[in-house]
Amino acid sequence: MNYSKFSLLVLLFCFTFLLAKADEGMWLPLLLKNLNEKDMKAKGLKLTAEDIYSVNKSSLKDAVVNFGGFCTAEVVSDKGLIFTNHHCGYSAIQSHSSVENDYLTYGFWAKSLKEELPNPSLTATFIVRIEDVTAKVLEGVTANLSESERQVQINRNINKIRREAVADSHYEASIRPFFYGNEYYMFITETFLDVRLVGAPPSSIGKFGGDTDNWVWPRHTGDFSVFRIYAGKDNKPAPYAKDNVPYKPKHFFPISLKGVKENDFSMIYGFPGRTQQYLSSEAVRYLIEKSNPAKIKMRATVLGIMDNSMKSSDQIRIQYAARYASIANYYKKWIGELQGLKAFDAVGKKKTLEEEFIKLANKNPETAKLYGEVLPRIIQNQKNLEKYALARELFLEIVYYGSQIIDLASKFMATYEYGESVENLKSQVEEHFKDYHLPTDKAIFAESMKIYYDNIDKALYPDIFQAVQNEFGGDFKKYADFIYDNSHLVNLEKVNELLKKNKSEVQTILSQDPTYRLMKSLFASYTVRINNEYQVLNNEIESQMRIYVDGLRKLMPDKKYWSDANSTLRLSYGKIEGSAPRDGMMYKHYTTLEGIMEKYVPEKNGEFDVDKKLIELYNKKDYGRYGEDGKLIVCFTASNHTTGGNSGSPILNGSGELIGINFDRSWESTMSDVMYNPNICRNIAVDIRYVLFVIDKFAGAGYLLNEMKIVGK
Ligand code: ARG
Ligand code: ASP
Repeated sequence: MNYSKFSLLVLLFCFTFLLAKADEGMWLPLLLKNLNEKDMKAKGLKLTAEDIYSVNKSSLKDAVVNFGGFCTAEVVSDKGLIFTNHHCGYSAIQSHSSVENDYLTYGFWAKSLKEELPNPSLTATFIVRIEDVTAKVLEGVTANLSESERQVQINRNINKIRREAVADSHYEASIRPFFYGNEYYMFITETFLDVRLVGAPPSSIGKFGGDTDNWVWPRHTGDFSVFRIYAGKDNKPAPYAKDNVPYKPKHFFPISLKGVKENDFSMIYGFPGRTQQYLSSEAVRYLIEKSNPAKIKMRATVLGIMDNSMKSSDQIRIQYAARYASIANYYKKWIGELQGLKAFDAVGKKKTLEEEFIKLANKNPETAKLYGEVLPRIIQNQKNLEKYALARELFLEIVYYGSQIIDLASKFMATYEYGESVENLKSQVEEHFKDYHLPTDKAIFAESMKIYYDNIDKALYPDIFQAVQNEFGGDFKKYADFIYDNSHLVNLEKVNELLKKNKSEVQTILSQDPTYRLMKSLFASYTVRINNEYQVLNNEIESQMRIYVDGLRKLMPDKKYWSDANSTLRLSYGKIEGSAPRDGMMYKHYTTLEGIMEKYVPEKNGEFDVDKKLIELYNKKDYGRYGEDGKLIVCFTASNHTTGGNSGSPILNGSGELIGINFDRSWESTMSDVMYNPNICRNIAVDIRYVLFVIDKFAGAGYLLNEMKIVGK
């Protein structure tokens, strides 16, 4: 085969591949009719696009809830009952827990409306309608405007459109850019302020498998919790009040006991947070070669130190549990993402696409003028951005996920330099020391600073690194000794001493405190050397991406395009299926209670402990109508494209009935935030029959089922 024939074949292959990425995409509900309805019906949807999203009648969207701004939930009764994940309700459950009433460990079930527990500041938001406002937002935006003038004009338009849209109503309006600002959509929302905790399984069910099983298939977590939305007597949002009443929704999901079969159609309706499908080859290379490895190294080191300390004492184990879980979550995600993108040759695929783009652009002078130069510019800018981006990411790591002492110093700065209240600081100090173990923090400090030092460009160093060189020979352990021996911020007594003094005394002491001086130096270098440059370059890339993505859609019009997730309401669809994630390995599409027993390790509060009651039900095979052929299905996987924020989302069958609650992806799937591999990327849901089984048979809270609409058995 000669070369040109060969490359043509490769191109054709890549092209068909791009066109055929069956289940990729997080689609805007109001565009389903034109873009997806036909395809969805062919795959098994029994409803119309209008049933899923409508502004004229009630539709599925009216049962989908943005839960607190960080997760998704779904309405399952005409009394405002909602399901979400256990890990989404976790802090609410935790806030009601104490040693006497340990709902985290033992679960919680309100026996009547009166026992449901209010959660100040927890919200539930519905989408009232979505509108394409592109033309209005871009009014007066002409080609001769500079980027900053363009932004000023756009913001002016946005403010005006929003104001007009919600005048005289209790709704809110937000307008978000799509396709890097080629399109704009407005979301009219209604936010409820009284959301009460109704029920939660014990952690041995809701968090079964803990961090070990997080991002892992096969999975056996009953990751659900139950809340209820309350409204004023007029069914409108109202702040918490004792005599608020259960919210009457426009729609709630019927729950299907029919179960899931391999290859069944399924869809997920929710609020995915962030994806980056259109990154350039250079940006993906940076992610694979620099960003993820550096952050993984940083977190591996931090987690290793924490793990050692946590194993050495129960007290430390409890103190660091939540912090450990949150650091471990994305640490694990990045490893899977990195491996997946490498194995899939994501950079190679991007390069092929980019070459094709440039070729197509240069086919005629007009498109050449518009799009011919944009990719080389993006790539050059991305190269220039790299050192700032890396320093910025690692800076955020050391401040937020590294040693806690720097974080505490930054709180002092907020108080004594930026006027935050001392009262506020006092309560933060309490919190801080409640979960603080000095030797652990000190070890983390030395190691994470060293990684920062070794990985970022020398020109971006904070000034204080010079002193670390001069005085400690660059040895961060010695520097740590110095800091922890001399700082006022290392224990509660010293800090309380400090807080007794007046403002100017505190400021004088802080100005000589080694932690405080380090933190100030770090922040100064971040602001002046790192973030300024980063923002300038990043803004340039963003506006070039607008042109590139516009070009993609015009030059390759046969592909269906979806705009990156941005925490707005989306629908993804695919089917119930397992995968073959690695050589010699097959994932089935479901797991059962047998698997829980296989993983069982008796140990109070252990990750794989199993409640006696559940073992009893298992031994008796007492699954009632929730079982299937003598088995109880616990979780299943499907090819629905999801990301962070989709936790708690309803997973629905072709008739719009609830079959599960989404909560995770498998490790190998996490690359889908950057590139979707249809053979591997799967979401993980808890089977709704397991949820009802736990509520009914395990917890004896079957009365809750009376208000649900259960179909199929
Ligand atoms: N991986 C899930 C998602 O990203 C989080 C699951 C929470 N559970 C845990 N063991 N940390 O958010
Ligand atoms: N676990 C994620 C969430 O909490 C979902 C995911 O990333 O797949 O939203």
